[in-house]
Amino acid sequence: MQFLDMTVRAKITALGTYVPPRVMTNADFEKIVETSDEWIVSRTGIRERHVVDKGVATSDLAAEAAKRALAERGIDGKEVEAIVVATVTPDMLFPSTACLVQNKLGMKNVWGFDLSAACSAFVYALQTGAQFVQTGAHKKVLVIGADVMSSILDYTDRATCILFGDGAGAVLLEPAQDGEGLIDFEHEIDGAGGCSLYMPGGGSLHPATHDTLSQKMHYVHQDGQAVFKFAVRKMAEICETLLARNNVKASDIDRLSPHQANQRIIKATADRLGLKPESVIINIERYGNTTAGTIPLAMETARQEGHLKKGDLVMLASVGAGFTVGATLLRWAF
Ligand SMILES: CC(C)(COP(=O)(O)OP(=O)(O)OC[C@H]1O[C@@H](n2cnc3c(N)ncnc32)[C@H](O)[C@@H]1OP(=O)(O)O)[C@@H](O)C(=O)NCCC(=O)NCCS
Repeated sequence: MQFLDMTVRAKITALGTYVPPRVMTNADFEKIVETSDEWIVSRTGIRERHVVDKGVATSDLAAEAAKRALAERGIDGKEVEAIVVATVTPDMLFPSTACLVQNKLGMKNVWGFDLSAACSAFVYALQTGAQFVQTGAHKKVLVIGADVMSSILDYTDRATCILFGDGAGAVLLEPAQDGEGLIDFEHEIDGAGGCSLYMPGGGSLHPATHDTLSQKMHYVHQDGQAVFKFAVRKMAEICETLLARNNVKASDIDRLSPHQANQRIIKATADRLGLKPESVIINIERYGNTTAGTIPLAMETARQEGHLKKGDLVMLASVGAGFTVGATLLRWAF
């Protein structure tokens, strides 16, 4: 294998995740929209998802996941130098969720910001955080993916409300030695796809008014089939590009930790790449699509099942609203 030459790499040294305790099953959705467990499972793979109680926001989930990652590494929040929060559901437009998390955890001497890239936001935030480690600017960067999708779902729209859940995951990035850590990445955006998945209300184009509320503009709007087709094609394409550039064969990949939007998208990606089925992490049945939370939640599932070990060659892959596309190749380091 031949990897890009980087003087200092960043590696993930801790992982923490959090989902709120309340669970909504497919049977719960059968009571509120015209749907069935059979339809949801066969079309998406989802059986249940976690949702917050009223008053719980993205920063709460993010802070809890961060706390768990720091506890795993055995360090205090005061040692963290920067926080990047990937989210499409910030508590509010400003202040940033990063500021809220910093305050909740009592961190000192840290700076940070939010990053918006919908379902690709975790991989984008990971690479953004990694740049500070690779340049030597920082030695400890916290990258968090967190979303409370239930806050922007129309629970009368059966085509979208059954898909998403709430959740968060955090990783700590530190300098790597001996070929561990983040190896390479490939990112791409295609704004022509913006109209296929978006939330039109509440921004500067359509600030909140009675009219925007009555038109349900503060909810997720999606052309499911357009997103599905794009995702099936691009998830595989971006991974192929990354693998080819690094002279890595699909059979060399120990784990694919993909964004969990639809089990059929993940399986089609794995088939097209020719990955070993046992290398593909799928946990969508338990969490649904938690947007920026899916990839760290998938890593945690793999770890709990004993399928993520030091030295494993791991690929992350995502497609999201924007469209945004991303893939990362890394050597798991702990
Ligand atoms: C949303 C998605 C599951 C829908 O599956 P699909 O097979 O494409 O289904 P369609 O949209 O073609 O809808 C088929 C029918 O099921 C119906 N339907 C939609 N949601 C339904 C539900 N929850 N229960 C029952 N029927 C439903 C539709 O109304 C449609 O009925 P019709 O034929 O009478 O018009 C699928 O398109 C998808 O996963 N898209 C990608 C979504 C995604 O990944 N988003 C996040 C990107 S990060």
